[in-house]
Amino acid sequence: MSQLASFVVVANRLPVDRVTASDGSVDWRTSPGGLVTALEPVMRQRGGAWIGWHGAADEQVAPFEHDGYSVVPVPLSAAEYEEYYEGFSNATLWPLYHDTVAFPEFHREWWDAYVTVNRRFAEAAAEAADEGATVWVQDYQLQLVPQMLRELRPDLRVGFFLHIPFPPIELFLQLPWRTEILEGLLGADLVGFQVPGGAANFLRLVRRQTGLKVERDRVQVTDSHASVSRAYPISIDTQGFADLANTPEVIAESEALLEELGHPKRIFLGVDRLDYTKGLRQRIRAMGELFEEGKLNPAEDVFLQVATPSRERVEEYKRLRDDIDLLVGRINSEVGGIGRPAIVYRHAGFPRQTMAAMYRIADVMVVTPLRDGMNLVAKEYVACHPNTGGALVLSEFAGAALELKQAYLVNPYDLNGMKAVLMQAATDPLKARERRMRALKKQVKANTIDHWADAFLGDLAGLD
Ligand code: ADP
Ligand code: G6P
Repeated sequence: MSQLASFVVVANRLPVDRVTASDGSVDWRTSPGGLVTALEPVMRQRGGAWIGWHGAADEQVAPFEHDGYSVVPVPLSAAEYEEYYEGFSNATLWPLYHDTVAFPEFHREWWDAYVTVNRRFAEAAAEAADEGATVWVQDYQLQLVPQMLRELRPDLRVGFFLHIPFPPIELFLQLPWRTEILEGLLGADLVGFQVPGGAANFLRLVRRQTGLKVERDRVQVTDSHASVSRAYPISIDTQGFADLANTPEVIAESEALLEELGHPKRIFLGVDRLDYTKGLRQRIRAMGELFEEGKLNPAEDVFLQVATPSRERVEEYKRLRDDIDLLVGRINSEVGGIGRPAIVYRHAGFPRQTMAAMYRIADVMVVTPLRDGMNLVAKEYVACHPNTGGALVLSEFAGAALELKQAYLVNPYDLNGMKAVLMQAATDPLKARERRMRALKKQVKANTIDHWADAFLGDLAGLD
């Protein structure tokens, strides 16, 4: 890095992944997940440096410029990929923080790798940041970085934002390294959560685990350092998505898609990373039963589900993939016409343009996570759907449900309840659907990613 940055984002993922094809050629691809979707427009607007991993193990990549900001790759060895990324981040913290919907595994060598890699990220940030710079650390993979960074560079202003839920204290306390994580986070001047409940869980934990003085949302960590915890619900570049969905290319692609699907009367759509927190098993079972019971007619209705491959070597994800393949196969073998499946399922990531085309044609968007920090897919649908006739079915357990209150809310554990709401969303009179969708569009227009970044960074700059 030749030039020091006054604004630095540190995240496990960079906005782009380096992919090597089988012929040895190298390409860069948009990284998966909501964190990148949300942060990428923030960096494009503000400039600065984005420090992160480029998605491939055992590779050193030099910093480069991208869309008006610097990208600083941090390397991971194959062993670190396994222990820090697949292990501690995604087989310990991910399930623990998502209500233990899968069992978290605790392994001491995974923790050691987590500490080592966090230190590497902290050092990279310390090296890239100018005197007095603002450094914004992101998500559960890097919870030790705030404190490490404070030790290395006490002159910096350090923010931290957790994109996933912060769990109830009863679950968090299972973690053998709970004190270290807590101390790591408290190194930040401002710790942001998706919803007020996350901030409340965190502050309750601080009160119970540390002898520190807590006044409302402010923890006095040392004589000279205090840490504030608040909620900042994340969002999307609403106008950017709406504009994209209205381009002639996307309109043409949505028409081609309709043609390919055989012009169904109603399209139900699911869009997720293939993750067990997303409630895919429950959703597919509910949709399958509606087809089997004749409430949905495969000659007229279709359920289109696309799922981006994710964390494919982690055991729970392998199991999920097999389960979904089996479920979809079983349902399609029992209902639907030849050449006209009830469920159209693709295990693949698609370009942003194709996603917008899908959102355009979906009559009922089905978002049913068992637990989700926010869920940006729900907001993307609201932004992209071209009229107010669409319907959003949304799990109560997504952070987004606190804002998108006019969605058709469901408890994904209650299959009959979910089936009833799916049918209601599909059959409500147009006027009722429009009333809801108008309110949703207003919400998503008023609370964009700019509001989120301005609120967090404004608060961070204003702390004394
Ligand atoms: P998470 O961050 O847990 O994956 P979010 O719903 O917050 O969940 O964000 C997911 C992001 O990934 C969204 O921007 C969405 O458009 C994108 N995405 C999800 N599934 C696909 C897919 N099959 N192809 C391309 N992009 C996808
Ligand atoms: C969620 C997490 C992000 C993560 C993304 C994709 O959005 O909050 O931190 O980057 O999922 O997951 P992956 O493991 O592929 O980075």
